[in-house]
Amino acid sequence: MGLSEGMNRRGFLRRLSIFIGGAAGLFGLYRFLTPRTAGTNVVLTVASADVPEGGALIFSDKQTAVMKLNGDITAMSLTCTHLGCTVALDGDRFACPCHGSVFSLDGEVIKGPAVKKLTVFATDEKDGKVTVYRRSAV
Ligand code: FES
Repeated sequence: MGLSEGMNRRGFLRRLSIFIGGAAGLFGLYRFLTPRTAGTNVVLTVASADVPEGGALIFSDKQTAVMKLNGDITAMSLTCTHLGCTVALDGDRFACPCHGSVFSLDGEVIKGPAVKKLTVFATDEKDGKVTVYRRSAV
């Protein structure tokens, strides 16, 4: 009876490990086949042609600027990294009206008190449209 129970236990553990391995494999396959762009992390979508070269489209309601510099489209959070005020485009930089921080168009701090750069959002340009994602660009 003890040997039989041992075999049953081994059989159960083998089946359990096969099940867990299969579930992990299916989850991995699902993650591979499901675009990371799906879901609620999309901030906005805009026609590529609407983004002016050397300029920016400001989406105040989304706290986001979409810019095209040298043909490359980027998107930036307009939330100041100091205390969260909304920065404004001021010529070729972003300026925060609250405490005077200034950021370059690629988000780097030019002048504090902010010490952390603005968040650059991930973007994807496809079929004439730019999609901006909530996650940071790498
Ligand atoms: S919140 Fe922008 S500088 Fe303080």
